[in-house]
Amino acid sequence: MSLIIKNSPGIKPSEITPESDYYNRRQFIKQSAAVLGAAWAGRIAMPVQAAQTGDFPTAIKSQYSTREPANSFEDITSYNNFYEFGTSKTDPARNGTGFQTDPWKVSIEGEVARTGVFDLDELIKPYQLEERIYRLRCVEGWSMVIPWTGFSLAEMIKQFQPTSRAKYVEFTTLYDPERMPGQKRRVLHWPYTEGLRMDEAMNPLTLMAVGLYGKTMPNQNGAPLRLVVPWKYGFKSIKSIVKIRFTETQPVCTWNKTAPKEYGFYSNVNPSVDHPRWSQKTERRIGRPFWEPKIPTQLFNGYGEQVASLYTGMDLTKYF
Ligand code: MTE
Repeated sequence: MSLIIKNSPGIKPSEITPESDYYNRRQFIKQSAAVLGAAWAGRIAMPVQAAQTGDFPTAIKSQYSTREPANSFEDITSYNNFYEFGTSKTDPARNGTGFQTDPWKVSIEGEVARTGVFDLDELIKPYQLEERIYRLRCVEGWSMVIPWTGFSLAEMIKQFQPTSRAKYVEFTTLYDPERMPGQKRRVLHWPYTEGLRMDEAMNPLTLMAVGLYGKTMPNQNGAPLRLVVPWKYGFKSIKSIVKIRFTETQPVCTWNKTAPKEYGFYSNVNPSVDHPRWSQKTERRIGRPFWEPKIPTQLFNGYGEQVASLYTGMDLTKYF
């Protein structure tokens, strides 16, 4: 069941609960009791963790957050897909440890008035950071709930003033096999690239993330800058971005290029369109006990209210 808080454009910053309240001790105790009572002690996250570190003191809570309990920091940072650091789930945490992400530059290219190469700090400075708790559904059939810190991609795109020819946005991950040893193996077409249609990129749910659980983004989760598109399978949420290019034609995406029959350009979460090798009807929530039944997967990962209109009239079995 979707527990997304409805978009209410009139919401004033003063109506948003301050972070200090969100993480206060009383709430922590209440939440912990509820969560622990729900079973699986120690595996489900306690949101208080974010306040204790607080790398982003100016971040505000987002109206788009789900109220489902977040996965633990441990789960989120130890079970990863990041092929640049290896193909097993534990490789990115192990092999990404020494990955240097400062300094980091991002190149803005293509169909925009303002192109250029920007220091990450300079690039993200103008935007209001938010904590957004999103479901992430992996195409492999598992899911997590992750409290990201980031800002709206739409706000950033507006700053660069796209031309009328900008129909798509292409994102590229760093290519540096010395720093990302997984790139020495030809398991994917490197560098990893992903793309969105312009209206998908401009949707208020689309997030550029720089942290999670109130901490600077861990390397294994895509430091220092990654995309998060919560209604699409996780592989669209490209990590460690160094280039954002605005294009007139549909970008080539790594997974689509690697296995076009299995991974389409759109990659919207859709329980009615099976992967050719497995069903997409249900998902296993990481961190839940193995005896619990799998969760039914929702169309657009439960974010249909905000995004279904982007696909009106499209045959989603053809444009998967
Ligand atoms: N981005 C890059 N550059 N390389 C990758 O291998 N894996 C994708 C996506 N972004 C991947 C990537 C996949 S398949 C998933 S499910 C998510 O990252 C996982 O994000 P997480 O490890 O933060 O949960």
